[in-house]
Amino acid sequence: MSIDRKVRVGLVGLGNIGNTHIANLTTMDNVDLVGVCDIDKDKADRFAAKHGTKAYYSYHDLLRDAGLEAIIVAVPHYDHVPITIDALERGIHVLCEKPLTVHVNDANKMIDAYETAIAKNPKLLFGIMFQERTYPFYLKLKDIVTHGELGRLTRVTWINTSWFRTQAYYDSGSWRATWAGEGGGILTNQCPHNLDMYQWLFGLPKRITGHAHIGKYHNIEVEDEVTAYFEHEDGMVGHFIVTTAESPGTNRLEIAGENGKLVYEDSKIVFYRNRESMLKFLAESKQGFAHVENWYTEIPVQTNVPVGHKVVTNRFVEAILNGTQDLTAHGIEGINGLILANGIMLSSFTHRTVEVPFDADEYEHILQDLKRNSKFTKATVWDAQINMNESFNV
Ligand SMILES: NC(=O)c1ccc[n+]([C@@H]2O[C@H](COP(=O)([O-])OP(=O)(O)OC[C@H]3O[C@@H](n4cnc5c(N)ncnc54)[C@H](O)[C@@H]3O)[C@@H](O)[C@H]2O)c1
Repeated sequence: MSIDRKVRVGLVGLGNIGNTHIANLTTMDNVDLVGVCDIDKDKADRFAAKHGTKAYYSYHDLLRDAGLEAIIVAVPHYDHVPITIDALERGIHVLCEKPLTVHVNDANKMIDAYETAIAKNPKLLFGIMFQERTYPFYLKLKDIVTHGELGRLTRVTWINTSWFRTQAYYDSGSWRATWAGEGGGILTNQCPHNLDMYQWLFGLPKRITGHAHIGKYHNIEVEDEVTAYFEHEDGMVGHFIVTTAESPGTNRLEIAGENGKLVYEDSKIVFYRNRESMLKFLAESKQGFAHVENWYTEIPVQTNVPVGHKVVTNRFVEAILNGTQDLTAHGIEGINGLILANGIMLSSFTHRTVEVPFDADEYEHILQDLKRNSKFTKATVWDAQINMNESFNV
């Protein structure tokens, strides 16, 4: 059911993804864009003039003066924290860009603020922009895994090396790929979607072992190549292999279980379906080298459906109008991807396997040391406008 009125929305952060948000918000019948905000005054003025709204240069002023019901937070990750907390404390619904923030301690501050605010106002919404949860292939994988088609899961291997980035990309903003400005590399910028998808499909592991290479192929001070090994409570193992330095890249997700194997790659899901349980066969067969008979099935997926940012934003706005909590992804779920990302980096920095939950203070201290001791200076920084449609990795 949709209520016939407009929600008063503000947008903070008018950079690359801010452009995508503006394009969506200004075409939504249920949204009144009452203010845009950027610390870059020219940008704020330009956007405000173009879209017939008011410009703000500080998020404090936007939150205080614009009469917002909801805000979309599209600034660099560290600043997600103060803006989200301030908005929630004022009873303003928040849709925060991914990642929730940089580290688990800050995520807990946001979650605490939400829990305090929602106790007073049960209809308050806190969403996060995990638009890949709207993609039909991932929804189908979720459907298959959740319904137990594979039986007991034994292994997940995700090779996602199609996040290729050039040096020019990293040079396109002073905050990018620095400990102080961004707080991480591929795990913090490109992979939050994949890490969210991993935890959405399989939950969190009990142990994490990570190997992260810092600036291996790019002139950056953060990681651009990562291999991680996850061990789950029930024995399932996961491999997570990512880099921004591989072209052509691969996006291949294999999910193996006792009833067969799912392979998602090249816009296709294949199910190698076992005729009987592999675990039962393994235990009971009298033949040493026999295999379980399996059948190749290509899973039909309806792809002609709306996807992406606009779908997530529209659901957020409809939930406000209808007073529900029906969101694509709730902000509090955003901490799980950070547990994976921080856990991988903590393991890599300390050369040990990390138990989950780990000591979030230990990771925050490492991050603070990296910021404090950074000698990195960017050779060139240019204000690039990136076509975000080219960045989304399906
Ligand atoms: N969901 C996705 O697929 C997706 C894609 C791209 C970016 N993002 C996320 O969006 C955020 C922004 O990324 P981007 O690529 O658009 O960055 P960007 O550098 O292009 O733009 C950021 C903008 O925020 C402004 N800004 C910085 N601090 C501010 C503050 N405190 N108050 C007001 N304005 C401020 C900057 O002046 C700039 O205009 C990041 O967290 C990023 O991870 C998400």
